[in-house]
Amino acid sequence: MTTLKRPDGRKVDELRPIKAKVGVVPNADGSAMFQSGDTIAIAAVYGPKKMHPQHSQNPEKGTLRCTYNMNSFSVTERIRSGPNKRAMEISKITEWALEPVLMLDKFPSQVVDVHINIIQADAGTRCAGINAAAMALAHAGIPMRDMVSSISVGKLDKTIVVDLNKAEEDWEEGEGPTDIPVSLTHSGEITHLQLDGKISGKQLNEAITMAKKASEKVYEIQKKALKEALEK
Ligand code: CDP
Repeated sequence: MTTLKRPDGRKVDELRPIKAKVGVVPNADGSAMFQSGDTIAIAAVYGPKKMHPQHSQNPEKGTLRCTYNMNSFSVTERIRSGPNKRAMEISKITEWALEPVLMLDKFPSQVVDVHINIIQADAGTRCAGINAAAMALAHAGIPMRDMVSSISVGKLDKTIVVDLNKAEEDWEEGEGPTDIPVSLTHSGEITHLQLDGKISGKQLNEAITMAKKASEKVYEIQKKALKEALEK
């Protein structure tokens, strides 16, 4: 039995409190806010629109272009916002996590732009960004086969926990932290998985099972927010 106590007292499989809302950026074609604990992401979708420059157009299918940005005021120690290696990596990962559910063949030669802004960060920003982006794409009416719900699971020393906050990502005791952000469709297909740290194959399987369960909770909240917007 584990004696591990999480810094904020959560159970190992307990998510941080989640808030989600669509239609938060009126001028965008679709938008959403996804908050998990103290991490807040806003996604705004523009398009589909003609891709410029012309040589970047794909006549067979549309292009999803995601831009992830952590605002300078999102963490206590101000950071330089805008493009950097980390932001470029997360932008690309967000595209890969979402592309499998998008029917890009419905808008050849066009582009859908998704701008993700992290206005407050306490770990798990890529997952919050992917959750907000998936909702914003649905809100914009982009044809989708399924929803994408993202959550990070991890290991604190030897114990697997879901939805790590920053204090947990910085865990120093024992084996230290392992962070595994995972994105899943509602039908259970993994569209994105990263692994930062060390974990055995057996524990990785356990972590993925926990991520699947947690992603269902995320999905229900995304669905509820989209339904509420439709009913308005
Ligand atoms: O945010 P996420 O967990 O997806 O990515 P990360 O690169 O593992 O960053 C973890 C956390 O570190 C962020 O959510 C921020 O709270 C913090 N961070 C920071 O304070 N300054 C940075 N330049 C990057 C991250």
